[in-house]
Amino acid sequence: MKPSPAVHRSTMRSDLDELIMNRRTLVCVGPGGVGKTTTSAAIGVRAATLGRKTLVLTIDPAHRLANALGLSSFEHQQQRIADALFADADLKNIAPLHAMMLDTRRTFDEVVRRYAGDPEVQARILESPFYEQASTRLAGSQEYMAMEKLYELSQTREFDLIVLDTPPTMHALDFLDAPDRLEAFMSQSTEGITAASTKFLSSVGLSFMKANAMILQGIGKFLGTQLFLDILSFLGDFRSMYTGFRERAQAVKAMMRSDDVGFLVLSSAEPSSVNEGLYFAEQLTNETMPVAGYILNRVRRQTSDQEAGMDEETAQSVLQALAASGTTAADAEELLRKLELCSRQANEIAARDVAQTVRVRKAIPAVPLLAVPDFDEDIHDLRGLYRYGQHLASVKGFGE
Ligand SMILES: Nc1ncnc2c1ncn2[C@@H]1O[C@H](COP(=O)(O)OP(=O)(O)O)[C@@H](O)[C@H]1O
Ligand SMILES: [Mg+2]
Repeated sequence: MKPSPAVHRSTMRSDLDELIMNRRTLVCVGPGGVGKTTTSAAIGVRAATLGRKTLVLTIDPAHRLANALGLSSFEHQQQRIADALFADADLKNIAPLHAMMLDTRRTFDEVVRRYAGDPEVQARILESPFYEQASTRLAGSQEYMAMEKLYELSQTREFDLIVLDTPPTMHALDFLDAPDRLEAFMSQSTEGITAASTKFLSSVGLSFMKANAMILQGIGKFLGTQLFLDILSFLGDFRSMYTGFRERAQAVKAMMRSDDVGFLVLSSAEPSSVNEGLYFAEQLTNETMPVAGYILNRVRRQTSDQEAGMDEETAQSVLQALAASGTTAADAEELLRKLELCSRQANEIAARDVAQTVRVRKAIPAVPLLAVPDFDEDIHDLRGLYRYGQHLASVKGFGE
């Protein structure tokens, strides 16, 4: 059967555009400083130009990136990117693009309000001095809250696509384990402390069942009465959220494994960064989380034939320009030699990047490989983000 024009068009789409059109959530993961935040924003811009109403949920946006999107800063609420900005960059008929910054603490507050049903319990948790520690310092809480927010936003179906940027120093497993780890904390910590008090009480000849506030205050002599009671009461309150919390964590985990979601693993082309990226991809695959693409960012391109350093035509035009500016023939030759050396070194670096591209392709052959060149300038406006997105959408591991 002859494919319909629509089907035909869709098969012509690049890997990135295919993901933008067919997934509801794309999560950018990878080591710090490789361009996750920039990539998330660039994918958002591209998605808007493809007619998808998009939200970019970012974690640590640079001021420059906010400016590139016409914002003075990122806020904790959704902000719409002005249409005028797209028009200035000659981009028309775009769908609404929103950006928003994740606030871990505020998201945790919302979780507490949702699961600690009793308003008094809510207030006690939120006002406890231990809450600050639990909400911000608990391992994996930032990662978990990112997923929690993502889940909440995706449930509203307000957006066709949500692009999630992830925290900078995140280790692959932090992200994957976060729901389990938080769940474990909530279920075990109270039991842990209860077990400790029970042991203590039996050691002084009393069963835990007989324990009452007076006895606990007795133990408190050793720990500091108020501190001990406060910890027990906080953990008791915290634990009251456990059932709701566990259900939610399971729903979040199920969402992360669904076909609607795609993980994009990022790295630079430095061998150590690729090591991390491939490790990340492996971990995701082991956890049955869908790896939808591998983005090699800042790939350096060869300027000319690798052996020559600089081609004959370029060398001649350099010599002519130097002669025209009054440089002596000897100085011009010397300058040309230095230029050729630089060019050769740049080409060697580019060849190493190409080798890494090949390495990624061989390691994960089924995963689409997308590459972005190392731009000379920082990405500082919408045009720059659009250009970045165009590379993602068109160039596949160039230079091979
Ligand atoms: N392809 C590229 N070419 C040039 N600069 C880039 C490129 N990708 C990212 N950058 C720059 O690298 C820096 C780090 O990028 P960022 O997106 O903040 O990384 P991450 O979120 O992974 O920490 C930013 O200044 C960004 O503009
Ligand atoms: Mg970042």
